[in-house]
Amino acid sequence: MEEMREYPNFLGTERSRREGPSHGACITFQLTMAAVFTVLLITAVAFAVQAFQPHPQPCAQCPFDWVGFRGKCYYFSEDESNWTSSQNNCSALGASLAVFDSTEDLSFTMRHKGSSPHWVGLSREGEEHPWEWMSRSPSSHPFQVQGDGLCAYLGDLGLTSSHCSAHRNWVCTKPALQNPRKNFCIST
Ligand SMILES: *[C@@H]1O[C@H](CO)[C@@H](O)[C@H](O)[C@H]1NC(C)=O
Ligand SMILES: *[C@@H]1O[C@H](CO)[C@@H](O)[C@H](O)[C@H]1NC(C)=O
Repeated sequence: MEEMREYPNFLGTERSRREGPSHGACITFQLTMAAVFTVLLITAVAFAVQAFQPHPQPCAQCPFDWVGFRGKCYYFSEDESNWTSSQNNCSALGASLAVFDSTEDLSFTMRHKGSSPHWVGLSREGEEHPWEWMSRSPSSHPFQVQGDGLCAYLGDLGLTSSHCSAHRNWVCTKPALQNPRKNFCIST
């Protein structure tokens, strides 16, 4: 009889002991879930707000469709035109026919031009006259120009010259924007 009385008692205390903490754990669980949900909601709202804000592009130093290389932006035309009209096209974009400062500039454009010849900003007044870049500043690097024309273009073997009235693609250059946040940039 003693055992019979103690047994349910024992179960009862065990049950009440279990109910106490399990009820508390349930509330803790609910609070945790509420906190997690709130954090997720705030994060989602923050991302949504950010997505609709205009993003500053700290690394974009060249216009869309232009390629940046060594402080200059390059534009490779899809159209073809004569040398003068090509220069006018570049000028209308705030640029000039491509000016090279180094052999790296030349090899860069050679890599990007594809198979078609492209006008560059190098011309001379006559066969006896010196080659002059659009920039009018003496180039630090002397370039060899093949052929006996008065206007220069990028051919398969490098700088070549021909009649200025020939229709070709062209390359424009203009200085890349100096970015005050350059240190935060990964590329270029
Ligand atoms: C640009 O080139 C096209 C030919 O491809 C010509 O028709 C047009 O007039 C040029 N634009 C300027 C501003 O020179
Ligand atoms: C170059 O092209 C333009 C427009 O197509 C034309 O008006 C001009 O006469 C041409 N110039 C030369 C030197 O061929």
